[in-house]
Amino acid sequence: MREAVGCHQTGKSCRISHDERMNVILFGATGMVGQGVLRECLLDPDVERILSIVRAPTGQSEPKLRELVRKDFFDFAAVESELAGYDACFFCLGVSSAGMKEADYRRVTYDITLAAAGTLARLNPDMTFIYVSGTGTDSSEKGSSMWARVKGKTENDLLRLPFKAAYMFRPGVIVPLHGAKSKTTFVRIFYRVLGPLLPLFYTLFPKYVTTTEQIGLAMLKVAKQGAPKSVLETSDINEI
Ligand SMILES: NC(=O)c1ccc[n+]([C@@H]2O[C@H](COP(=O)([O-])OP(=O)(O)OC[C@H]3O[C@@H](n4cnc5c(N)ncnc54)[C@H](OP(=O)(O)O)[C@@H]3O)[C@@H](O)[C@H]2O)c1
Repeated sequence: MREAVGCHQTGKSCRISHDERMNVILFGATGMVGQGVLRECLLDPDVERILSIVRAPTGQSEPKLRELVRKDFFDFAAVESELAGYDACFFCLGVSSAGMKEADYRRVTYDITLAAAGTLARLNPDMTFIYVSGTGTDSSEKGSSMWARVKGKTENDLLRLPFKAAYMFRPGVIVPLHGAKSKTTFVRIFYRVLGPLLPLFYTLFPKYVTTTEQIGLAMLKVAKQGAPKSVLETSDINEI
């Protein structure tokens, strides 16, 4: 079924042929980035099924969307039978580090992500996993910025898992489009204040500013066709 196009990471095919539709798992669909990614998945005819893993039901009803409500995001053993048979995972779950102690930030950023990804890699060896980190992420894991070190460790350990391919998306400023809203109060205030200027920033600074729509479209394209490198900065996301 899949075309014989080699993936730069594993040598497996990275390209999904037009007669093959994708099944996608989405984390963080209630957040600003996740809302944008969910929208693009719903609009893409190549996406057959979306499993959105959430803490509480959203009430959203779409023919190809199913929500799996979990209280525990640290252990997916009880729902493993529901997590097999997927081609891609778009991991948009994450929190701002503002005001958080390192241990608490690490618990959400690293522990949840690796718990989910470890289970998915075992159940779906042909899966492409895409993680949203952020510009400035510290791959050395040794710098002075706490959030950047934790995201760096998260990225590094994700890249070691036996997925068909894994990609780290590092957006800078994100313009929320089509009604996407942050769950984080100060981010919502930031966007309310700067909102009218953001489309201008996006035009003037395409290396640093992207949109929720661009992120969603880029994730879908990378899941279908792969990308030439595994860490994708804002300019790479926009180019894709
Ligand atoms: N917003 C930006 O400008 C920006 C820029 C660069 C990078 N990023 C990165 O993009 C990612 C998503 O950001 P966002 O702006 O979409 O965030 P957001 O609007 O605050 O949404 C956060 C998402 O993560 C989920 N979540 C948070 N803590 C959780 C927990 N303990 N257990 C389960 N789910 C949890 C939330 O679910 P609930 O609905 O259940 O709370 C929500 O779906 C983050 O990693 C962030 O660092 C964001």
